[in-house]
Amino acid sequence: MELNLRGRKAFVTGASRGIGAAIARGLAEEGVDVALFTRNPSDCEALSRDLGNLHGVKAPIIQLDFLERARIKPAVAEGIAALGGLDILVNNAAGFFRGGLMDIPEDVLEENFMIKPIGLMRMTRECASHLEKSDQARIINLSGTRGREPSPYSMLSGPINMGTNSVTKAMANLFGPKSITVNAICPGSTDTDRWDDLVERTMRDHGLNQKNAEQKLCEEVPLRCVIRMTDISDLAIFLASSRASRITGTAINVDGGRTRSI
Ligand SMILES: NC(=O)c1ccc[n+]([C@@H]2O[C@H](COP(=O)([O-])OP(=O)(O)OC[C@H]3O[C@@H](n4cnc5c(N)ncnc54)[C@H](OP(=O)(O)O)[C@@H]3O)[C@@H](O)[C@H]2O)c1
Repeated sequence: MELNLRGRKAFVTGASRGIGAAIARGLAEEGVDVALFTRNPSDCEALSRDLGNLHGVKAPIIQLDFLERARIKPAVAEGIAALGGLDILVNNAAGFFRGGLMDIPEDVLEENFMIKPIGLMRMTRECASHLEKSDQARIINLSGTRGREPSPYSMLSGPINMGTNSVTKAMANLFGPKSITVNAICPGSTDTDRWDDLVERTMRDHGLNQKNAEQKLCEEVPLRCVIRMTDISDLAIFLASSRASRITGTAINVDGGRTRSI
């Protein structure tokens, strides 16, 4: 399938690890130049080198912490200067806290919202005029299934991802007339650092070994599996491609069927 991605230009936030790094790799494989946004540039050096060496694309590293609001404008300007334009914005960065209402530290409560969805909105505002110049403009927001199926054990993930789904829909309406598509991807439990943490917690709470803890977690999933980072990046690449030009304003689960609603 021809995806028409070669030579396109993308920004990926939270690019140093996990799903952000996987999406950056997937886009680079398709010949996309990718600006890697991260709080600590040294964390992206190896990835940037790899993308250049393996795929011959530009992979500049741009420092950005969403808790420093004034940094967003110059960071976007640096990314545009490095790539010479923008076709694809991947809003992937997020904070994370697994725990109930009473457990969330006060600073974490506010800071996580500053990254997603507030930082995501600020980033999109700053990038909009550049995306408008592209003939294949895409905004892809990383959300999460807890936005649709809240859990008392992951209290923050609900409002943060429901908010992300909501702004995704509203931005799709706003930018549709300019032919910019806006979609969200909702990962289920994915094999990032978060999965390792969840497995350890399940081992501790239920007195299980690693294999049995993983099996217990997978039993909650109809497909009986953990989501791979490439499951998420494959969808992001499709949404970025010319093949997805009529898909906008939607939030797609990649969760092995775990979410109980449709
Ligand atoms: N993993 C899962 O199971 C899962 C499930 C549901 C939804 N999701 C969503 O999928 C996306 C990726 O998740 P993930 O598990 O790969 O990563 P993650 O560990 O949740 O973190 C994503 C990235 O966010 C960046 N970040 C954190 N605080 C930041 C800040 N103050 N300013 C700027 N960037 C900041 C970090 O990048 P740097 O270190 O490079 O700065 C980090 O690598 C997130 O939006 C997450 O909510 C993941």
